[in-house]
Amino acid sequence: MTQTPSRPLLPMTGHTMGTRSAATCHFKCGDACLRDEGSLSASPHFAEVARAAVSRRSVLQALGLTAAAVGASTFLGTPRAQAATAPAAGEAVVSPTFRFRPVEPVDRTVDAVTVPAGYAWHTLVQWGDPVVPGAPAFDLDRQSPEAQAMQFGYNNDYLTIVPQSSTRALLVANHEYTNENLMYPGFVDEASLTDEQIRTSMAAHGMSVVQLRRYLSDPRWYADSSRWNRRITALGTPFRLTGPVAGDALVRTTRDPAGRTVIGTLNNCAGGTTPWRTVLSGEENFDQYFRGDPVGDPRNRDTYGLVDATGTPGDGRFWYRVDDRFDVVAEPNEINRFGWIVELDPRDPGSTPVKHTALGRFKHEGATVSLAADRRVAVYMGDDTADQHLYKFVSEGRLSPGGTNGPRLLERGDLYVARFSAEGDPSTDHDGTGEWVPLTRGGRSMVPGMTLAEVLVFTREAAAAVGATPMDRPEDVERNPVNGRVYVACTNSSNRAAAGVANPRPGNRWGHVVELREDGDDAGATTFTWTLALVCGDPADPSTHFAGFPADRVSPISCPDNLTFDSRGGLWISTDGQPGSLGLNDALHYVPVDGPERGHVQQFLAVPTGAETCGPVVDDEGDSVFICVQHPGETADAVVDAPSSLFPYGGTTRTPRPAVVQVYREGGLWRR
Ligand code: FEO
Ligand code: CA
Ligand code: CA
Ligand code: CA
Repeated sequence: MTQTPSRPLLPMTGHTMGTRSAATCHFKCGDACLRDEGSLSASPHFAEVARAAVSRRSVLQALGLTAAAVGASTFLGTPRAQAATAPAAGEAVVSPTFRFRPVEPVDRTVDAVTVPAGYAWHTLVQWGDPVVPGAPAFDLDRQSPEAQAMQFGYNNDYLTIVPQSSTRALLVANHEYTNENLMYPGFVDEASLTDEQIRTSMAAHGMSVVQLRRYLSDPRWYADSSRWNRRITALGTPFRLTGPVAGDALVRTTRDPAGRTVIGTLNNCAGGTTPWRTVLSGEENFDQYFRGDPVGDPRNRDTYGLVDATGTPGDGRFWYRVDDRFDVVAEPNEINRFGWIVELDPRDPGSTPVKHTALGRFKHEGATVSLAADRRVAVYMGDDTADQHLYKFVSEGRLSPGGTNGPRLLERGDLYVARFSAEGDPSTDHDGTGEWVPLTRGGRSMVPGMTLAEVLVFTREAAAAVGATPMDRPEDVERNPVNGRVYVACTNSSNRAAAGVANPRPGNRWGHVVELREDGDDAGATTFTWTLALVCGDPADPSTHFAGFPADRVSPISCPDNLTFDSRGGLWISTDGQPGSLGLNDALHYVPVDGPERGHVQQFLAVPTGAETCGPVVDDEGDSVFICVQHPGETADAVVDAPSSLFPYGGTTRTPRPAVVQVYREGGLWRR
């Protein structure tokens, strides 16, 4: 294993690393791309597989996927006020009544939200807005941990909207990380942050629940104050551990000798909404908040990128200065209590959120639920680091008709990792086959030499041991509720040296999307076939591929991150890295995946300079698309009072503020 170099303080330079700015690398994932992290995989990179990715099914499958379509939808069911009319030439047709004219790609320096003609946008909630009743108004010069713990957190990522009635809904958002240079006036460097500022940043992490309401004759939703409103923070929210690792020696600490209660959640990236209306959230780059131990247990260093304190005393975002549980020397097991999938029930504001250890511990991008044919619960998950893996959990029990046993189903089940093969039947239209290799089964480890708890805490090690396929940073993984296929966003892997199975491009700066078909179209299957649906980039680049659709008719797309589907099964892809890889602002793209338009990437919007598009929720039946604008103005050298963006503009004059935005059709009229 290569010795990992120490993580530098924020490099305030204008260079880019791969597809991201240096500022993004530092704040978002602790400069993970500078390190040789997690390259334990025993699997070879297969040379020159790269079978041309051109097999396509052009006929919409009638699959009868009642299980796939169960209940996880967040469509808000808005009655339509406008009748369908014939689409104009060049319009993207999502459904008979939801259409848009694709926007042109936007240069990465443009500080604006760009939406299609006929659409407008407005801010639902932004960093610092009061959430919990009694929260103070945002004041850039008077921030405090106490205020922030009651206000909307920073860098909203995953977004879901859980309907309550025709006029009420609960917005749930993740707050992945913080940009201290854009939060605190007078920022110099991380080492100079005050303890109060560090605690404020801890309170700005986590999740928010905000009730939304709407009014007659207005297509817009508005944030409201309600008894459901809630903040989950890294600072003070208790979580209960569930599953096989709860109580294990690997998660016992000085302050929690029972190993069952964790304070806080970290780096919550993407997520999923369950059929039982709870929210799953992935703890991603958790290692960066801890100061490493140069001589202790090497597993968090070797497989999860934890950086030793040696050479950079005081790293780990300096959180250890205000709480020694973030110092691995002082509290060696605290780090093992992060890196899980958490579950929150937004409809029960008094509930204790949980961390499900049966789903494994890695740098979880997100977790999306589908149902197997026999109603076992399948959870698809990506581990977003170069050469890490794609996972699926399948519950032991079956979901009851009312779904009330859902949360308990995530406590017991089998964890699988994907192994792709280039072998396929030449008479078929897929590019290869694959299998889900069990890491745990029936409550036992399936990995020689590792206990059940070790498999679940050091899951990367287990995946490598069984020959899982190293992927190009698998981010969101989601099953299409209409065609039943599973889509995997591999965002990029600039350092990939050679083509590999299902990862066809060396130096893959632009990413790709893999499409899986579970055998029998059953989420409980243990084998699948796969196809490269999209190989992203500048369409003029011959290495790109758009499912066979003519490249001269698609929008440029790069670094796919979050995925979601509209009511017709159309795929929507938000991006994280177009500025560095294409010179364009990040975007939200619509891509039909069936029929003659399969592969026709059409850009719906662009976010402002320095921002990433996150958490899309597409309510095509309500003529609305909701997005999180994450890290607006995250560009080199930007600070408060000298920012590169002033998003979301209204009244903002000194620094940008991450926010949730609704894009809606102008002139749309909601009627009860
Ligand atoms: Fe937080 Fe993998 O993006
Ligand atoms: Ca992401
Ligand atoms: Ca998603
Ligand atoms: Ca990303």
